[in-house]
Amino acid sequence: MNKKRIAIVTGAAKGIGKAITSRLISDSFFVVAVDVDDKAGKKLVTEFGKTKLSFAKVDICNEKSVQQLFEKIVNEYIEISVLVNNAGIIRDNMIWKMSVEDFDSVMNVNLKGSWLMCREAARIMKEQKRGRIVNIASRAWLGNKGQSNYSASKAGVIALTRVLALELGKYKVSVNAIAPGLIDTPMTQSLSKEVLDKLIAAQPTNEMGKPDDVANAVAFLASEQTQFITGQTIYVDGGKSIGAGI
Ligand code: NAI
Repeated sequence: MNKKRIAIVTGAAKGIGKAITSRLISDSFFVVAVDVDDKAGKKLVTEFGKTKLSFAKVDICNEKSVQQLFEKIVNEYIEISVLVNNAGIIRDNMIWKMSVEDFDSVMNVNLKGSWLMCREAARIMKEQKRGRIVNIASRAWLGNKGQSNYSASKAGVIALTRVLALELGKYKVSVNAIAPGLIDTPMTQSLSKEVLDKLIAAQPTNEMGKPDDVANAVAFLASEQTQFITGQTIYVDGGKSIGAGI
């Protein structure tokens, strides 16, 4: 049985997930990197090496695949220290133009996928009597035009975080969320220049955050020193969530 400290990171192949993976590896975790993107996932193994990371091609919306992933991890490793639910997607549109498919797919990945991963991790961490779950929400949960699906899914992630903090507290498992603002990743690079310029101009910092800014907050919540912090949402958004909007 492998005694390494294990951290599972979903959506690990790119953007924020990759930065979280890299940071947790620097903090001496062995990372199980989960993603649907096989090609980018395999590149991670080449980049970080088999002694630091293993890649699992798993769609987090699929209950069976998620259960099989956890069965495999439990068979191979002695404990799961950290779960980071980072995988997420956007399918933006005003509600009158949004399809049910775009609503469902965002809900499925962002909320149901995180819930499925949390459920399997909770079953294990409850028995271990230790563990850390960090859910990547978004400041969009406060409400963003064109994101009725995404904002609702991320509000759900925050509610999920708060409930699990209550349910798992006495088992010494802490559950927190991070609400990033505008971060420079493939997700935001897919926005038009016009939209992106507007978003950057609206930032108090006048710039985008970097994936490492989120990874640093994850590392803090994943550390041994933060046991008494649970059910919280930490904003990593350059101050975008403060002020009265004038
Ligand atoms: P990204 O699009 O650059 O990377 C997301 C990763 O998740 C990809 O590698 C993708 O293949 C993977 N993924 C998607 N669906 C999956 C599934 N069903 N199962 C497993 N993996 C799946 O996204 P980015 O920007 O790095 O975002 C990461 C998280 O941060 C997301 O939850 C996102 O909602 C959140 N976030 C991002 C912000 C930003 O400005 N980039 C702002 C606020 C929140």
